[in-house]
Amino acid sequence: MIRLDRWLASLGEGSRREVREWIRGGQVCVDGRVIRDPALSFDPEGVRLSLRGRALDGRLTRHVLLHKPAGVLTAARDPKQPTVMDLLPPVYRSLECMPVGRLDRDTTGLLLLTTDGEMSHRLLSPGRHVDKVYRARVRGRLESADVQAFAAGMDLGVFTALPAVMTILRAEAEFSLAEVTLREGKYHQVRRMFAATGHEVTALHRRSFGPLLLPEELREGDWRELTRAEVCALRRAAGMETERQA
Ligand code: URA
Repeated sequence: MIRLDRWLASLGEGSRREVREWIRGGQVCVDGRVIRDPALSFDPEGVRLSLRGRALDGRLTRHVLLHKPAGVLTAARDPKQPTVMDLLPPVYRSLECMPVGRLDRDTTGLLLLTTDGEMSHRLLSPGRHVDKVYRARVRGRLESADVQAFAAGMDLGVFTALPAVMTILRAEAEFSLAEVTLREGKYHQVRRMFAATGHEVTALHRRSFGPLLLPEELREGDWRELTRAEVCALRRAAGMETERQA
């Protein structure tokens, strides 16, 4: 349950003060009834909210699957560069629907954003080991010794990478393509692991995050909310009970 004034303000419709005035002025309806008391509480998932006759999507819990393009920062905001939040309607920023982990500026692919701080925290916790699958294009020919180096885990100086599965998809003198499955997500991890084997990553793309797969039809820069089934699978991956549906 949430107070009506707080609810409207969380949706980014106006400041707390503004929305209070609108409510007192009879501009806000819940389930078709004008409500003039800003302090009345409602279930945001269970009733219909409208402002000046315009129906609002009042859900406070949102989970977004974004196909991140290159050249965009994984950050809530940045004074100079575009961020992933700029790709979503402003209500997601108002609701603090935040990226779960980060992809480098030039990495493309699946990025999850959620308003559920607990789920985010659990999915990122070092002990949780949620698989992430990447496709990488690297300079030079990948060899089976590189596959073994990934499988053995690596001391990268700043951290030691756990054993990871690297599969060579194509190997040529100039460049190679590989798929990498990580169970952790440290800073620049894929790039650092390839660098440690003498290969510079020239393109990196995330295909999956735990149970979530990047849908083929979702083009770079496009996004959609998770389906119910995806939310359940994600909650399971996060070690959360799934009955309390999000
Ligand atoms: N590893 C990297 O090096 N970069 C990413 O963006 C993700 C994983």
